[in-house]
Amino acid sequence: MCGIVGYVGERPVVDVLLPGLSHLEYRGYDSAGIALNMGSSMDVMKRAGRIAELESLVESEGPFDAISGIGHTRWATHGAPNTVNAHPHVDPSGDVVVVHNGIVENWVELKRKLEEEGHRFVSDTDTEVVAHMIGELADLPLVEAVRQVMNQADGALALAVMRRSEPELIVGARRGSPLVVGRGDNENFLASDIPAFLEHTREMVIIDDERIVEVRPSSVRIIDLEGNEIEPEHRKVEWDFEAAEKGGFPTFMLKEIHEQPHAVLDTLAGRITETGRVVLNELEMDDKLLRAVDKVFVLACGTSYHAAMMAKYAIERWTRLPVEIDIASEFRYRDPVVDARTLVIGISQSGETIDTLEAVRYAKAQGANVIGVSNVVDSALARESDAVLYTRAGLEIGVAATKTFTTQLVVMQLLGLYLAQVRGTLDPGAVELLVRDLMKLPDQIADVLSQSDSIAELTGEWGSVDDYFFLGRSGDFPVAMEGALKLKEIAYVRAEGYAAGEMKHGPIALIEDGVVVIGVATDSHVRAKTLSNMEEMKARGGTIVLVAEEGDDVGEVAEHVIRVPSGPDLLCTVTAVVPLQLLSYHVATARGLDDDKPRNLAKTVTVE
Ligand code: F6R
Repeated sequence: MCGIVGYVGERPVVDVLLPGLSHLEYRGYDSAGIALNMGSSMDVMKRAGRIAELESLVESEGPFDAISGIGHTRWATHGAPNTVNAHPHVDPSGDVVVVHNGIVENWVELKRKLEEEGHRFVSDTDTEVVAHMIGELADLPLVEAVRQVMNQADGALALAVMRRSEPELIVGARRGSPLVVGRGDNENFLASDIPAFLEHTREMVIIDDERIVEVRPSSVRIIDLEGNEIEPEHRKVEWDFEAAEKGGFPTFMLKEIHEQPHAVLDTLAGRITETGRVVLNELEMDDKLLRAVDKVFVLACGTSYHAAMMAKYAIERWTRLPVEIDIASEFRYRDPVVDARTLVIGISQSGETIDTLEAVRYAKAQGANVIGVSNVVDSALARESDAVLYTRAGLEIGVAATKTFTTQLVVMQLLGLYLAQVRGTLDPGAVELLVRDLMKLPDQIADVLSQSDSIAELTGEWGSVDDYFFLGRSGDFPVAMEGALKLKEIAYVRAEGYAAGEMKHGPIALIEDGVVVIGVATDSHVRAKTLSNMEEMKARGGTIVLVAEEGDDVGEVAEHVIRVPSGPDLLCTVTAVVPLQLLSYHVATARGLDDDKPRNLAKTVTVE
């Protein structure tokens, strides 16, 4: 998840690109760069770190008399966040420059082919491969070269490309990742997001998927991947600048909740084959070692701990390995039994949570093999683990974790299936069925998101309610726990997440008129029992809301049923948590609270 900006027109190009990048910094800020096309030469400047670093570099090298330019702010996916891997990337002649969002899934194969032809690469990125491929097609008009390369590249990607010999032209391409053109008077802008140009124009053209766009000072031409001309559709931006940074959403949290279909798709990308197997090439952990493991620990804090809870059920069910989970801050103080045959999985979106890092360090010192699961490339957890699996949720600005949680669930499901493959505990047919269902998740999440308004209506009735319970059993239990945590942290109300079957052993004493009880009942083998537990809550005066799968008969127990698409147990955790995120958001908003920056919390917790 990175930011792209491009400009062709009469203004000083640098004065458009640098502020444009600053407006996109929320998309990623581990490195940044620009390329300026002077016609006679192509100047590329880039720096690791924040955009301020790039600004000082450009200031020290300028002024520049450029005709067009492209810029990029990066959130690393392939290759460490350093200056060499920063965009733009160039072809060997230095004439073609490319900036890119997304992932070219078949880049290893494409790179190998180019290497066989004698190409040498300086970075570890998939983007450099694209630059070389376009450079190879120097005899073709740039738009045609980009079209041919788009037809060879797999994955979700947005590109902005310039060629020295065509200085009044930027070519953009879109598949999956966003791309828009801002229309000006004898000038045009190309960007991943509207904030990049909103201070200059509100007129825009949205580029659809599988389209290539030629942007010149006074024209915008769009073609499809077959080369057919497409009529550009002009629109006017309605938001103010502040809102635009949030993509039109009132808060980052809501925006991030809505980004989940894409985040999950990115997290699955390249990790499952057409034949329905899981491939985790980046895992770099020997199969022999994974087969020798006799116990698994999953360690994490907060929301990430709820992903660990789901991971326990998944890994035990699919691999028959015993799995212990622990809150990271508890783990190392209780003298846990860990040795060289223990596999430890540390989950942390930031990869910087000190409790999780210390727990992982402790386990390593006892001889365990450690897999880190993180959303931040090259984070401390990633560096200190023996192997790392990244969630590819993109930058999460809202303090309450949302899209990083659903992508953690997906990564842990992939890892569970992978271990089952390696250890031969699930037959290939069973893995294939689950993999096919994993692929449905992005669309299913989108379905759930469309219920946001009805969830707002429901929570509108709870203005004065201060007591909530979230209940579930089996795979629905971590979902209930996460629902309660979200509500506590952003709406500041007492919300308990509990195992539904445990309520009768004490907490049921708290149920009375006016308490809202939200039951999650998607796990088929315990659904009937959860529904009975909900009857028990209703009999004591609880207001019952249920999250249930489409088509399931849940009787009359609930005043309101939120439906999620049906799917296999455990995989449903990903869709079932989404209405609970929306519910927290709407309760907090109705109370006039800032859900992006809840009181007393920090996005990254680096103290014990
Ligand atoms: C909840 C939340 C926190 C984090 C916890 C661990 O919305 O954000 O509970 O989940 O602080 O953070 P990471 O995953 O960065 O280790």
